[in-house]
Amino acid sequence: MSSRLQNIPGMNDALPADTALWQKMERAAQTLFSRYGFREMRTPLLEDTALFSRGIGEATQVVQKEMYTFIDRGGDSVTLRPEGTAGIVRSYVQNGLKREEPLLKIYYMGPMFRYERPQKGRLRQFHQIGAETFGTSSPIADAELIIMVARFLTELGIDNYELKINNLGIAAERDVYTRELQNKLRTQKEKFCTSCQERIERNPLRVLDCKSPVCQENLHDAPALGSFLGDESRQHGAVVLEQLEKAGVKYTNDPRLVRGLDYYDLTAFEFTSSALGSQSAFAGGGRYNRLVSELGGEETPAVGFAIGCERLIIMLHEANKTQTTPLNKGYFFVALDDQSYDLALTHVQKCRDSGIAADILPELKSLKAQMKQANRSGLSHAVVIGEEERHSLVFTVKNLATGEQERMPADKICRLER
Ligand code: HAM
Repeated sequence: MSSRLQNIPGMNDALPADTALWQKMERAAQTLFSRYGFREMRTPLLEDTALFSRGIGEATQVVQKEMYTFIDRGGDSVTLRPEGTAGIVRSYVQNGLKREEPLLKIYYMGPMFRYERPQKGRLRQFHQIGAETFGTSSPIADAELIIMVARFLTELGIDNYELKINNLGIAAERDVYTRELQNKLRTQKEKFCTSCQERIERNPLRVLDCKSPVCQENLHDAPALGSFLGDESRQHGAVVLEQLEKAGVKYTNDPRLVRGLDYYDLTAFEFTSSALGSQSAFAGGGRYNRLVSELGGEETPAVGFAIGCERLIIMLHEANKTQTTPLNKGYFFVALDDQSYDLALTHVQKCRDSGIAADILPELKSLKAQMKQANRSGLSHAVVIGEEERHSLVFTVKNLATGEQERMPADKICRLER
């Protein structure tokens, strides 16, 4: 006997029992984001490897260790997208979208791939819902995105989270700071974890958000990025925070927050939740004013975020624990004999044609089997048709949540108020 095939670790199925929550999340994003003026964009899962190494940064962990890169049959190096922003920017430049719309607000959703060690909330194929605003350097745009994430979470009934925000300044300010930081850290290099020792040389900023308490302790007298920022950068950050306050979005200033991707300037933020364990960040983003030109377009300021769907789903499960899922308005038809079954089939189709959810077993079975399926169906009512109902054309309708029964004329059934 051949062995049973298994999924690749870290690449999970969404089973029918899970997808209601996924759909709820996706619909909430579509509805809310379009209310804010964002439209959907879809880009390929597979892109030229150079897009990510140039876009995300050669020195980043994602590019160094986590990309699914392979040579295709034509001999080209291609990569499964580890995030959404680089592909969106590639498409934005390639399609000359700036000419048509100097200010462009888009959102996207779909799978991303990173070769990470799988654990709770960390997968190799995961999903993101993200949004990007192109063509404005106004801090109002940064705030709008952050507020949109906060409102999205409220819409989903999630309130157990923290928003951390930092101001990374512009590249020139950060470069001076990075050199200072590097010099300082080099003097005590051996006190840091082995990963940080490597980071001190390659990407010193990343030492700031190392999770190791020892490294964090060693950083207590490290220079602070904030004191290297010029007036314009400070002003930008101040407006973002002011807008958040006006919208009632709570935040914490986190001067150690640096993001794992190299393209950020000024605003950087992360949404975290203690419900998630060690992989606590469930959304992140910031401003990236250099990326469009680095990927061959004309200089265009931009800002965006991405939410990790699997992590959000874990939080939704927590939030929904106490609630029971409401039944779907609709009818499960139950027939007591062959002729009633034929009549029921006709009514199932009538209901469906008039936009009402309806279902029936694909063959006549015992009353018990049909009622079992009715209760499993998630539909709100069962319609029972037997000889008497068939003749009178008045059906027995049972509310599956309360058990109450009523009699209803057949022609009213397909006009259920939705
Ligand atoms: P990121 O912080 O790398 O940012 O990813 C965003 C979110 O994706 C994370 O907060 C996390 O929830 C989720 N995520 C990342 N890796 C995994 C994984 N291995 N398993 C499960 N979830 C994961 C970006 O990707 C940027 N493109 C965000 C952005 C958009 N910045 C500007 N615009």
